[in-house]
Parts: sequence; C-alpha cells; structure tokens
Amino acid sequence: MSKNKFYVTTPIYYVNDAPHIGHAYTTILADVLARFHRELGDDVFFLTGLDEHGQKVEQAAQKRGMAPQAHCDDLAPRFRDLWTRLEISHDDFIRTTESRHVKVVQAILQSVYDKGDIYQKEYEGLYSVAEERFITEKEAESGQFREVKTIKEKNYFFKMSKYQERLIKYIEDHPQLIRPEHRKNEMLGFLRQPLGDLCISRPKSRLSWGIEIPFDRDYVTYVWFDALINYITAPGYGTDEQKFKHWWPASVQLIGKDILTTHCIYWTTMLFALDLPLPETIFAHGWWLIGDSKMSKSLGNVIKPLDLIEQHGVDAVRYYLMAEMVLGADCNFTPENFIKRYNSDLANDFGNLLNRVSGLIGKYFESVVPPCVEPTPADLEIVRQGEALGVKVQALLQEYKVDAAINEIMNLIRAVNKYMEVQAPWKLAKTDLPSAGRVLYVATEALRLSAVLLRAVMPQKAERVLEILGAQGTGLAWGGLKAGTKLETHPPLFPRIEVEKQ
Ligand code: MSP
Repeated sequence: MSKNKFYVTTPIYYVNDAPHIGHAYTTILADVLARFHRELGDDVFFLTGLDEHGQKVEQAAQKRGMAPQAHCDDLAPRFRDLWTRLEISHDDFIRTTESRHVKVVQAILQSVYDKGDIYQKEYEGLYSVAEERFITEKEAESGQFREVKTIKEKNYFFKMSKYQERLIKYIEDHPQLIRPEHRKNEMLGFLRQPLGDLCISRPKSRLSWGIEIPFDRDYVTYVWFDALINYITAPGYGTDEQKFKHWWPASVQLIGKDILTTHCIYWTTMLFALDLPLPETIFAHGWWLIGDSKMSKSLGNVIKPLDLIEQHGVDAVRYYLMAEMVLGADCNFTPENFIKRYNSDLANDFGNLLNRVSGLIGKYFESVVPPCVEPTPADLEIVRQGEALGVKVQALLQEYKVDAAINEIMNLIRAVNKYMEVQAPWKLAKTDLPSAGRVLYVATEALRLSAVLLRAVMPQKAERVLEILGAQGTGLAWGGLKAGTKLETHPPLFPRIEVEKQ
C-alpha cells in the first residue's frame, strides 16, 4: 500500500459550550477516519481545537468576573479531557488564543489588505448579537436569528463578492468539494444570489476580545475570519512551509450542516484570496436530534457524553454514534435506540461470537487454537467473505459511509454466527474433533478480522479481542490467527444491558 497523506479536521468548538454528543460525534468521526487511514499505513494529521474569541466568550468571562483568557484557560480542559476519555487520537489541538495562531491571522489580514481585498466602509445594517454577524433582511425575516438590532458603523470588509464566479465554477468542476451532493446543490443555490462582501472587523469600542487588526488598532477581527484560519495555522502556514506543503490541502474537513456557509463560502473565498488550494472535501453531517429539535446548549436538551461513557463504556458510545447515524442525514438520539443497538450488535452478535468460540476452544481444545484442516465449501465461503471484507470497508470509508462500513463488518459476524449454528462444532466435537477444530478456527479467524477492522471504531474493546486471541498486530490477510496460540480467558466483553420492564 503506498503511503498517502490524509489530513482531517473537525470544527473548532466554542470554548464556552459544554461539550455534548453533537461535538463528540464530529470528533469521533474524524478519529475513526484518522485511525483507519493510519491502519492503512497512510501519513495522517488529525486536527481539532477550540474557538475562543468573540462576544459570547467576552460576556461569559465578564459574568464570571474573570479575564477572558483566564476564562478560556479554565474551560479548555473540558474539551481536552473529554477527548482523552473518548480515545481521540488527534495530532494537534489548536486554540485560537495561542500566539502561533494570532500571528498567522494578523499576517494574513495584512497580506490580504495589501493585495487590495480588504477595504473599509461605513455600513448600516441588521446585526444579530447572538450569531455575532450582520444579517440580511431576508435572514431577519426568517426568525432564526436572535437579538437582532440595527447597527451603523465603519468596518473592514473582505471582497468575497470578487470570487463568486470563480467559486461557482470551482464547485461545478469539483463535485467532491462539498458533500453530500444535496449540500453542494444548496451552496450552488445560495450562490445564485449576488454574494456580498464579508464584514471582518469589530470596533474595539463594542468588542475587545479578538485578534487586533494589524493595520487599524481600533478594531479586532471577526471571529469566523479568525477561526477558519486555524486549519492552516496548525499545519504550519507562514511558519513552516515544508510542513504546510506536505499537509495542505486538507483531505476532508468535517463539519455539521449548521456551519456549511461559513466553510463553503467564507473559507473557500479566503483561500482564493490567499492563492491557496481548496480542501479536497468539506463534508457536512446532519444533526443529532432530541425529538424534533437539534441537540444544543441553548435548547437545554443535551446528552452529556461523560454520563453515557460512565454507564456503558467508551467503545459502546463510539460504536453507537458511528453505526446509528447515516452520514449526511439527521438522527434521533434516544436511550432506547442506544440500548437496542448495543444489545443486538455488540452483546448478541459480536460479543456472543467471542464468548462462543473462546468457550468452545476452552472446553474442547484446552484454549489452544486448533488448526483448520481440509476446509469444506461452507468454510471457504466464510474465508471468501472475510477476505473481501477489508476492501469493501475501505471503499465505503473512502466514500465516508461509516455506518455502512460498520454494517458490512457486522454482516460478516452475523454470517459467522449462522455458520456456527449450522456447523454446530459442539456436536462435532463429540464425534469428529478435527472437524470441530476446523469450524472453530474459521469462526475465530473471521472474528479476528472483524476486530482488526473495528479497531478504528472501538479502540479498546477491539484491541482486547485481539489480545484474547493472541493476535495483536495482525492485519487483514486471512490466516493471521495462528493454530497453537493459547487464548486468554476473559469475562464477557459486552454484557447485555438489561432493561427493567416498567
Ligand atoms: N466555533 C464554530 C466552528 C468554527 S470552525 C472554524 C462552531 N462551534 S460549535 O461549538 O458550535 O460546534 C459546531 C459543531 O459541533 C457543528 O458543526 C457540529 O460539527 C457539532 N455539533 C454541535 N451540535 C450538533 C448536533 N446537535 N448534532 C451533530 N453535530 C453538532 O460552530
């Protein structure tokens, strides 16, 4: 396998927010892709971080009677610690208040200004305090924006409109840029209206918690213009050209559908202004919903990942989030669905197969893996499915169909459980021990292959399965499990969740 480069990003989360399942979802998704690409031998850079400037942060700090930086420093560990608990394997964690980022933002502002793509003008318009941006009349009428007031002030503007035609053409020529397809169409629809210029400054008289504009010290940078730049600061833009050239453009930038415009319009045109290539893909996933509403702090309906981890373990949480949501569509979170999927996929299918093979090899072979002698057509059918699985999963993940990839793995597990039922090695063991051994080898080897593939999703439990099978470090070729290996004894890895009948 040739060593490809894979650079994946998550949005940088607002430091003020208490992390919930929505934030955890994007980050786990990026982690699964990063781990999978590492598994393939690719060179991976996985970036996540925090968005720390802007009015909301300033106000929250004021409320607590703290300096904004101290407030951010105090809150940042909530995200960092959660990522550790969730086994997130990021390579860098960027905070927009770090000097490495501030310097890059200022250098970019200066160069875009020098180039003539930033200008000053007086502007009177509707401003949403909650969203921290000027909005159009139409947006105001939509009722989706809170705390709207009219503001008249001098500001700096980025000539986004200049790049409108180029962006339309680029999107049309690069269908993989905005995915899924319906989001691409949404953005092309948006671009049918004339694109305005982007107000990228805030007067310090109104907001001081931001990156100072280098050519006018009375202003700070609009939080989105600052935040988006994190994606190039971290891989070394302006500081380490070699590193930057290696990583940029990003392979995939994962976002929720709520921040589609900022990424597909603001970010892309900013990159045009900087003469930088656009990312290969911006992938917008749907929302986790509670009932009909988006899970969000302002609605007070959030599910806290730590509570779920405490109850069911990290791997079960990661598995559920990845298997349940069809990438691109919204998904309802309910504790009932969580338990249902856990019990069916992990306790009944995956966990049960492990318990069965290790129990039977324990009982009839003193826990030593038997050889597979003279495989029958039924055995070879499982071998065929097992050998095909890696390629199938890889193809689906390359299409960002994580749920479908997991389902393929589970299909093999289900096929092996059926094969066990039909072959009944517990019966064979009484009359024909080598045949019982053959069946158990095939089933255990298929389980090992599934565990190798599930390692990206469930790093702890899948690794534990491989440990039990004495097969750590093995890959996707059939036969990684060696006859003669002594299996470890273990308690069930996925005990059923018993729901008390009301
Ligand atoms: N700070 C900006 C992003 C700047 S990126 C340069 C921001 N932050 S946020 O904290 O609000 O996080 C937004 C991201 O969190 C979403 O794009 C999405 O990836 C994730 N989610 C937050 N709530 C979500 C759901 N209810 N469901 C799924 N993901 C959502 O916007």
